[in-house]
Amino acid sequence: MQIPPRGLAVRLSGHGDPSQVLRLENVAPVPPGRGQVQLRMRLAPINPADLNVIEGTYGRLPTLPATLGNEGLGEVVALGEGVSGFALGDLVRPRDGIGTWCQWCTADAARCLRLPAGLPDDQAAQLTINPGTAWAVLHEFPAGPPGSWVLLNAPTSAVGRSLMVLASRRGLRVLALVRREEEVGTVRSLGATEVVIEGREAAKAIRRQSGGTALLALNQVGGDSAAILAKSLAPLGTLVTIGALARQPLTLPNAAMIFSELRCCGFWVSRWYERVQPGVVEGMMDELGKLLRDGLLHLPVAATYPLERVQEAVAHAQRGGRGGKVLLAAHP
Ligand SMILES: NC(=O)c1ccc[n+]([C@@H]2O[C@H](COP(=O)([O-])OP(=O)(O)OC[C@H]3O[C@@H](n4cnc5c(N)ncnc54)[C@H](OP(=O)(O)O)[C@@H]3O)[C@@H](O)[C@H]2O)c1
Repeated sequence: MQIPPRGLAVRLSGHGDPSQVLRLENVAPVPPGRGQVQLRMRLAPINPADLNVIEGTYGRLPTLPATLGNEGLGEVVALGEGVSGFALGDLVRPRDGIGTWCQWCTADAARCLRLPAGLPDDQAAQLTINPGTAWAVLHEFPAGPPGSWVLLNAPTSAVGRSLMVLASRRGLRVLALVRREEEVGTVRSLGATEVVIEGREAAKAIRRQSGGTALLALNQVGGDSAAILAKSLAPLGTLVTIGALARQPLTLPNAAMIFSELRCCGFWVSRWYERVQPGVVEGMMDELGKLLRDGLLHLPVAATYPLERVQEAVAHAQRGGRGGKVLLAAHP
């Protein structure tokens, strides 16, 4: 493929207000060196982690200036010397730190994840971070035998939707904690067995519905919502925190910590990809690829913007009630 002398990239010059720190630049694509692949990027989602990188609060920040974007779908268009295991035309996601909000990307082959074939681009572009996290949490933390309950807040997030589908395939029942009455019907249609609305009596209601037997809770929110999940777990249950959507500290009830001997863990999928055996990731890709291909899991898209409209796209991604991901198209 003929690579043009310049291509667009969304660059971050400092942390803070996106309108001040994001720049659309025309940069020269970098030919792949030894062990590297060159990618023609197609689509990249704007995930909460990207917003945290822009504001400077994410767990791992790039050296600035840097091309933004943790996740995305790219096609291998050139191979550097010594690359094995990848071929021209393969669809991959370059792992975090490489920068995906661009037209052309050069990455170490060892840091690329091959994506399943036969998926719509908008689903493949979103597979590894959010569905990947839901898969990894169920793989890493015991939920109990089929029939056991898993507790979940923010169930309409991409992670939440994926978790509900994966849990049901494993014979688990999901009890979802929502903020508003209007969410109940949607969340049930996405696979929750029971739905409880946040409030003073929520922990009691969850314990009543689940018989107080749940061993695993996935917390994406923090604050009061996480405390409700913690109070609702069975003795020796595990509260896994992956997000802080409410931007409130995680406060855990003393009684649950002591008398239920609550386990409280964090999980970060970026580190998981670094430590996990390749065969486990292959198993994850196979299962998620099949679910997405068969339409049993669907990751909704709120809107797709060209890179030139990145400011508008980021503003959209920051709004609540989006109903899906905002994507950036590299070559619309
Ligand atoms: N640790 C990890 O490895 C890892 C990996 C992936 C994701 N995450 C985290 O997981 C969370 C979900 O990510 P995502 O990409 O799946 O999300 P997403 O698809 O962008 O959706 C965000 C969801 O959160 C809901 N929400 C926003 N603020 C909330 C609040 N205060 N209380 C309850 N719900 C709230 C939104 O509801 P409305 O639509 O009603 O506004 C929406 O359903 C984020 O915190 C993300 O950083 C962590």
